Amino acid sequence: MDKKTFYITTPIYYPSGKAHIGHSYCTVASDAIARYKRMQGYDVMFLTGTDEHGQKIEINAEKAGVTPKQYVDKIVAGFQELWKLLNISNDRFIRTTDDYHVKAVQKIFRTLYDKGEIYKGTYEGWYCTPCESFWTETQLKDGKCPDCGREVKKANEEAYFFRLSNYADRLLKLYEDQPDFIQPDSRKNEMINFIKQGLEDLCVSRTSFTWGIPVDFDPKHVVYVWLDALTNYITALGYGSDDDSDYRKYWPADVHFVGKEIVRFHTIIWPAMLMALDLPLPRQVYGHGWLLFGDGTKMSKSKGNVVDPVILCNRYGVDAIRYFLLREIPFGADGVFTNEALISRINSDLANDLGNLLSRTTAMAEKYFGGAIPAERESAPVDDELIRTATELRQKCDSAIDGYQFSAALTEIWKLIARTNKYIDETMPWALGKDESKRARLAAVLYNLCESLRIVSVLIAPFLPDTAPKIQAQLGAKPEALTYESASEWGVLPADTVVRKGDTLFPRIDVDKEIEELNQLIPNPAEEKAPAETKKIEGLAQIGIDDFGKVELRVAKIVACEPVKRAKKLLKLTLDDGGDGRTVASGIAPWYKPEELTGRSIILVANLKPATLCGVESQGMILAADAGEDVKVIFVDGIPAGSRVR
Ligand code: MSP
Repeated sequence: MDKKTFYITTPIYYPSGKAHIGHSYCTVASDAIARYKRMQGYDVMFLTGTDEHGQKIEINAEKAGVTPKQYVDKIVAGFQELWKLLNISNDRFIRTTDDYHVKAVQKIFRTLYDKGEIYKGTYEGWYCTPCESFWTETQLKDGKCPDCGREVKKANEEAYFFRLSNYADRLLKLYEDQPDFIQPDSRKNEMINFIKQGLEDLCVSRTSFTWGIPVDFDPKHVVYVWLDALTNYITALGYGSDDDSDYRKYWPADVHFVGKEIVRFHTIIWPAMLMALDLPLPRQVYGHGWLLFGDGTKMSKSKGNVVDPVILCNRYGVDAIRYFLLREIPFGADGVFTNEALISRINSDLANDLGNLLSRTTAMAEKYFGGAIPAERESAPVDDELIRTATELRQKCDSAIDGYQFSAALTEIWKLIARTNKYIDETMPWALGKDESKRARLAAVLYNLCESLRIVSVLIAPFLPDTAPKIQAQLGAKPEALTYESASEWGVLPADTVVRKGDTLFPRIDVDKEIEELNQLIPNPAEEKAPAETKKIEGLAQIGIDDFGKVELRVAKIVACEPVKRAKKLLKLTLDDGGDGRTVASGIAPWYKPEELTGRSIILVANLKPATLCGVESQGMILAADAGEDVKVIFVDGIPAGSRVR
C-alpha cells in the first residue's frame, strides 16, 4: 500500500539580505514537523526556497553594482548553507528564477487571462516597495503602508488585474466550511474582517521595473511578485511542467507555515488564485508569530538588527538553537530572543536536565556493570509511574504535533526527563551499589533509566537531530530499538546492550562571562569577530563597537566645489547628503582641482560638530586616505546620497 503523503512548506524567502534567525525560526519549525511525520511513516514532501524577483531586489542589486541574478545567487547560497548548518531536511529547494518555475508561472498567467480571471486595466494607487504590495488610498494608515508603516509611492500605469473581488463570498464560505483552514483562530478573524471591508481586484503586473517574470504575451509587463511567489507551492511539484507526477502525488499541501504578516496573501489571494484555476486548496495555513528583541522590535533585515544564527550555532551547537526556537515560543505567538534566555535554556534544560541524566546513567552503568546491564532484574512499585510516564509520552507528543505545538511537545518530553531524574533520587542507585544483594534491583533501575532515555531520544530526534543519535550511541541502542512504534513500548533494549559513557552533550556555560561576550557579538552581526581576535595596531588604543557606532558615516554627492579665498589648502564643497544638503571645508586643494570633484560621491562624517574654517562653516568631514605625500579622497560613485556606511 502507498504511504500516506504529507506536504509542508515554508514561505520562500526574499534574498534581499542575509538570512537571519527570524527566517530560521519558520524553517526549523517546518523541519521538525517534516522529520516527525517521516518518523510516523508518512511520505513527506518538505519544500522551501527563495523568492527572487521584484523591485526591491532590483534596487539592492543596483546599489551593489551587480546584476539582480548575481546579487541573489550570492545570498541564496548563504540561505542554503544556513539550512545545511541548521540540519534542515528539505526535500526540495525552489528558486523563482528557476527556468521551470518561470515557464509555469507564464502558463498560469496565460490560463487565468484566457479564462477572463485576469484582465487589462489601469492601476492607480500606492505601492510599498519593501512589501511589494499595492494599496488603495483608504487602505493606507496615516498615509503609510498599513503592513510595515513605511513610505508608499504613487503608482499610475497600465496593468493586468486579477478578479479578486469576485471571490469574497467563496473565501468566507471556505473559512466556514474548513474551520482549520486558517490557524490560529485569531488570524482567521483578522482575515474575515479584511474581506468584509471589501476586496478589490488585484494588480498582478508591473511595467515600472524589469526584474520579474515577463508576461509572455505582453512582455513589457512583469508578473506581480506575489503571484509569481505563491505559485511556487505547486510549480515546485511540477505543476505547469511536463512531469507533474509529484503535483498529483502531494498536492494539496497539508500545511503552509507562514509568518503572521503574510497570512493575508496565503489565505485570500492564494486560495482565490487556486479557485480561479479550478485547483484543490491547501488544507491549512498556519500563521506563526515573530521573533522579537527584548525591546519588542521585530528582527528584520531592513532594520539591520539581525541576530546571526551562524554565530549562535558555532558557539552552542545547532541543536541548542533549534531547541531554543522551538521550546521558548509557543508556535503562533510572538516571542522574545534574548541572550540570557538562550543561555538559561541551554544550561537548565539541555546541560542540567538532559545532559546530566545521560551522563549519570551511563557513568553508573559502566561503574556497576562495565556497561552491560545484567538481564536478571528485580522490579519495584516505584518503577510503575516512570514506565507509565514514558510509555504515554509518544501519544502526548503526537497530539501536540498535530496542532503544531512544538513547545508543548518538548515540555512533555522534558516532563519525562524530570521524572527520570527524580527516579534516580528515589531509587538511589549509589546506595544499591554498595549492597551486593541488591544487584538485581540495581540492574532494574539502570535498565529503566536507559529505557527512559531511549524513548526520549526517539521523540526528540525531529527537534534535536544531532543530539538524538549521540544519546543512542551511548545507550548502545540499535535501530530496531529506535523506531517510532518502539517509543510507546517498554523493555525494548535487549539484554546484550552495552552502554558506553561518551562526551558531554551540552557543556554548561558560565553565564556572566558568556553574556558579556555575546553582547559584544549580538545583536551586531556586522562585527562578527570576537574582540579577542581583532588585530591591535601598535600605539593605538582599541575602541569598542559602541565607540565606532557613534560616528555616522554617510554617502554624499559633491554638487559644487570652489576654492576658499585666503586659504590655499581649502576647498569648499557643497554636498547633497540625501537630506537638506550642507557645506564642508576640506583641506584637499593641494591634491584636487574643483572640477575633478564636482559630481563625485564621497563618504561624509555626518555627525561632526560644525566648525568655521577661514570663514566657511564646515558641517562635517570627508574621508580620504593619507598615502604619504599624496592624499586620495575615497570615492563611492554610484551609491545614492544619504546611504549609511558601516
Ligand atoms: N517572499 C515573501 C514570502 C513569499 S511566500 C510565497 C516574504 N519573504 S520574507 O523573507 O520577507 O519573509 C519570509 C518569512 O520569514 C515570513 O514568513 C516572515 O514572517 C518570516 N520572518 C522574517 N522575520 C521574522 C522574525 N523576526 N520572526 C519570525 N519570522 C520572521 O515575505
